[in-house]
Amino acid sequence: MWEYTDAVKDHFLHPKNVGAMENPTAVGEVGSLACGDALKLYLKINDDGIIEDATFQTFGCASAIASSSVLTELIKGKTIEQAKSVTNKEIADALGGLPKEKMHCSVMGQEALEAALKHYWGEVVPEVPLEGEIVCTCFGVTDQQILRAIEENDLKTVEDITAYTKAGGGCGECQSKLTELLENKRLSEPAQVPTGPAASTKKLTNIQRMQLVNDVIEKEIRPSLQKDGGDIELIDIEGREVQVALRGMCSGCPSSQLTLKNVVERRLQERVEPEITIKEIVE
Ligand code: FES
Repeated sequence: MWEYTDAVKDHFLHPKNVGAMENPTAVGEVGSLACGDALKLYLKINDDGIIEDATFQTFGCASAIASSSVLTELIKGKTIEQAKSVTNKEIADALGGLPKEKMHCSVMGQEALEAALKHYWGEVVPEVPLEGEIVCTCFGVTDQQILRAIEENDLKTVEDITAYTKAGGGCGECQSKLTELLENKRLSEPAQVPTGPAASTKKLTNIQRMQLVNDVIEKEIRPSLQKDGGDIELIDIEGREVQVALRGMCSGCPSSQLTLKNVVERRLQERVEPEITIKEIVE
């Protein structure tokens, strides 16, 4: 089962600042009982913008209680500007870490804090806390929430997304969409945006095509895959069919076909020739 730190155990067994607050300045509520976790955060903010008191009510597991408890301790005494930048990582770090599968509890804390601050600033807090389209209907998680979790926590796999947002942890029907979001995110990373010239409109000779394909694979595609523990090898080129083998984490990865289509083939079409196709050689 899960390995909990002493800090998690302590906050779970002796949670701080539990209960509703009378006359709070701001309230933030996230989650839903139907999804298993819910958190209501109450803040008392003074005229100088300092959080004088924070309390919570939660319906959730040990990690949800510990995350909520440590969050109230973290933000008490902070200005609202300082509190605004508290991340789920800080919540988890303050507990000495959380099991990966329970990181979504720290995300819930961050979202409740954001909802409370929006309430304080008089912003409309929508029923679904973040904008975007619902991707996981089992847990009501939107694409914006998923993209943000990927970015802020450098998530690499669908399993990571489930751990941080719960998306994908139910019926599993959203998993292909989660893979797509991961791939799109990877494509949009600045380091992977091609900086060289676009595909030539001139007809390439076989030698030119070979050199260009090799260049783009070596300089742009391989470094990007190697960052995630994967790799790719150019095997051969027949006409406009580029034959490659996936290595490392990429080989046998459930999303390898998406990587080949959405990352490798698309990049070569952009940078070498629009007619290029990719074929995976499995050895
Ligand atoms: S729709 Fe995401 S797990 Fe069911």
